[in-house]
Amino acid sequence: MSNSPVRRDPRLIPLSHDHHVALFRAREVVLAVDGVQPRDARELAGTLVVFFDAELARHFEAEERFLLPPFVARVGAEHPLAVELLRQHAEIRALAAALAEGASEKPTEAELWDRLKAWSTAITAHVRWEERQWFNAAQEALTEDEMAVIGAALQREGPSCRA
Ligand SMILES: [Fe+2]
Repeated sequence: MSNSPVRRDPRLIPLSHDHHVALFRAREVVLAVDGVQPRDARELAGTLVVFFDAELARHFEAEERFLLPPFVARVGAEHPLAVELLRQHAEIRALAAALAEGASEKPTEAELWDRLKAWSTAITAHVRWEERQWFNAAQEALTEDEMAVIGAALQREGPSCRA
């Protein structure tokens, strides 16, 4: 499989739109850590938990409901990209849950920043991995008919993340 740029199939653009929003939200943490846009850690964690629960979790579900099953049907559930996708989604769900728990268990400010940085780093790496590897592999593996079904489902659902 190549990592070279591949023209994104237009049927997957709703998912790429969500990725842009997710990268923007991850960048908020970097700007806060760097002091460019200072934020209160608890307030920032709160807004990111809302973003995850209301928007990005839906995006993960859309990928797992519409794109993963036909991909797995073509390449097998043990394919490294299929396994890695679910591993990364599980990791980010856990990191988001840790941010949410942070509000109640009162971690120190430093602990909360560590959790925010871990979430931001994982989101950024995950989006790049999907765009550079998984989406390319899916586009190559799936038939035109399968892509049309996926595109219709994503259109029906609408974007998960608000720009
Ligand atoms: Fe994604």
